[in-house]
Amino acid sequence: MNPVRRPMSLTLRVALLLSAVVAASFLAVGAYLYHTLQRQMAYRDDAELIGKVDQIRRIIAGLPSAAAIAQDQGPLTDTLFGHNDFMLKVSAADGRALLQTSLTSRPLPQVDSVPARRTLTLEDIHDWQPAAGVGRMVRATGMAGNEPVQITLARERSDRLKLLSNYSVDLLLALCGGALLATLLGYVVVRHSMRRLRSVIAKANQIHTSRLNTRLSVQDAPVELREMGEAFNAMLNRLEDGVQRLSGFAADLAHDMRTPVNTLMVETQVALARQRSAEEYQQLLASNLEEYERLARMIENTLFLARVDNAQLALQRVTLDLSAELQRIHDYFEILAEDVGVRLSVDAQPLQADIDPVLLQRAVNNLVANAIRHTPQGGTVALSAHAVPDGIEITVSNSGPGIAPEHLPHIFDRYYRADQARTSGAGLGLSIVRAIMELHGGKISLDSRPGEQTRFSLLFKKI
Ligand SMILES: Nc1ncnc2c1ncn2[C@@H]1O[C@H](COP(=O)(O)OP(=O)(O)O)[C@@H](O)[C@H]1O
Ligand SMILES: [Mg+2]
Repeated sequence: MNPVRRPMSLTLRVALLLSAVVAASFLAVGAYLYHTLQRQMAYRDDAELIGKVDQIRRIIAGLPSAAAIAQDQGPLTDTLFGHNDFMLKVSAADGRALLQTSLTSRPLPQVDSVPARRTLTLEDIHDWQPAAGVGRMVRATGMAGNEPVQITLARERSDRLKLLSNYSVDLLLALCGGALLATLLGYVVVRHSMRRLRSVIAKANQIHTSRLNTRLSVQDAPVELREMGEAFNAMLNRLEDGVQRLSGFAADLAHDMRTPVNTLMVETQVALARQRSAEEYQQLLASNLEEYERLARMIENTLFLARVDNAQLALQRVTLDLSAELQRIHDYFEILAEDVGVRLSVDAQPLQADIDPVLLQRAVNNLVANAIRHTPQGGTVALSAHAVPDGIEITVSNSGPGIAPEHLPHIFDRYYRADQARTSGAGLGLSIVRAIMELHGGKISLDSRPGEQTRFSLLFKKI
């Protein structure tokens, strides 16, 4: 089995990256410096060769004849004093050597001699191959009196190259040292900046469902951490909200369930207190049935949402005639609406759509039940279905007080009830409608003008 590899710490990673960047920059600068030095040295060495030949030409020009060169070599050899890497040969027109300092065992190349009248330029300098490295040499003609002599000046550059290679070693060492220092400093600096992150972690560790009101302070944090902190705080807001609603729901659910259970208990106790007639038992059972149904509905709704959450619910789409469906729902609620003095109307085009019939009924039932409940006596609840560019829209609207704007963002949340009076259900109805619409890939929207009208629209997109 592979051992689990821990990812490298961010601090180390940033510090290493930093040192890599520093090392690369050092390397680039070092290479540039090295090449500049190399070029400068080559240029100055060549210029020096020219200078020496000029000097030698002048000395020779001051002599009466070529023979005088051989007689007094002092002034010429003096020009090379202190330069062991130079080699000078002066020969007469017939090739006879007039002067020769220690010459290399390697042959010098046969290069053209610069005529006596022409001044030397850098182009007159040539490479030659001594035992080590590369050398430079020049050949020029000088005039001793009126006799031409051949001046050959060569230079080995091995000491210069050694200097350069020493320099490059020094540069490399400095580079390694600098990169190491940058790594260490980088590590310290990055570690220091990460302190903030640790304080965030410490804060996060304090958070607990019972202490969800803790927030990270983001004002004085650096930008990157501020963004993270804000996202974190927003998440905490949502969590706190959810946990609060959930615990509120637990209390509400317990309360809602207690009422029917208490009723059942009391009625049963009273019934059992003495002998009853069959009719009385029948009555008791009928009344109990209502409470059982209420309880069953609550449990069923909670279960339904849990199943949607766990994606255990499969859609069973059937081609439906929407006007017939709405008419059926209308007929179902008609008596109830009449009882509370609300007029119920249907206005549906003959439309067909592929929708799960059970879920459609459930969604519209929830909306209609809400609408009837929130419509004052004498008001109306209107059901409609019509085609829209995106697909098909079913609306349920009702007159009445409507929903205050502050409730709108939460109205589809689970267990949310705008009116805290316990006349309504558990606050699951609209979240079930929304879940059903999401299952169908549709959308639910709400338009409420308080005091006038509330309209819920279900959009079933074309499939
Ligand atoms: N047609 C409506 N008019 C006014 N308020 C409404 C309407 N429909 C829903 N509401 C508000 O939305 C809340 C949530 O509705 P719902 O999820 O069905 O829960 P419940 O009906 O169980 O209270 C209701 O408590 C109610 O305050
Ligand atoms: Mg409801």
